[in-house]
Amino acid sequence: MLRDLRLRSLSDSPEAFGQPLDDAVARPGPEWAAQARAASEGDRRAWFIAGVAEAAEPVGIVLVRRRPPDVALVFSMWVDPRVRRAGVGRGLIHAASEWASSWGADRVVLWVVAGNEPAFRFYQRLGFTWLESGPDADFGGAYGALAMTRPITRGRVRTP
Ligand SMILES: CC(C)(COP(=O)(O)OP(=O)(O)OC[C@H]1O[C@@H](n2cnc3c(N)ncnc32)[C@H](O)[C@@H]1OP(=O)(O)O)[C@@H](O)C(=O)NCCC(=O)NCCS
Repeated sequence: MLRDLRLRSLSDSPEAFGQPLDDAVARPGPEWAAQARAASEGDRRAWFIAGVAEAAEPVGIVLVRRRPPDVALVFSMWVDPRVRRAGVGRGLIHAASEWASSWGADRVVLWVVAGNEPAFRFYQRLGFTWLESGPDADFGGAYGALAMTRPITRGRVRTP
């Protein structure tokens, strides 16, 4: 399932992600299995996968990684174009933030490739703001991406 969703993401929105589709296609099956297993144990990382009643297959995915002590990093966010603008993305970010809150994260940080206006508008609508300086902003700049962040209030995820 993880492989299928990632290949669908990379086919649909190649410009949104750092990983080329060819690399993902060539990746051996056991590596996908190990990646999925790693996220199902402990609290270092988690994949969230979304489904909707109208579709037999999953329609969205996001990866969250723990950066101790208190930052949750979001990657690989994707929603199937057939179900966009229906709240699936919002639900995935909410689930990711709830999970991060459970281990004490106080903010979510992610990177958006410069020029990905739909994603910028999506994250802004969800209350994310630019990170204009600091190591995360610098890290993104090296890859042509801009960093965004949203706070997590302990025990309560802020969702506008
Ligand atoms: C960005 C993406 C994940 C949004 O998913 P989605 O399921 O369509 O988003 P939602 O329906 O949950 O939208 C949540 C809010 O953001 C707004 N929003 C979503 N896409 C938007 C867009 N293109 N332009 C403006 N606002 C947008 C929605 O209108 C909604 O606001 P509302 O509560 O006022 O209705 C999806 O468009 C996508 O997968 N894009 C391609 C991959 C990508 O760019 N990923 C991000 C990598 S950083």
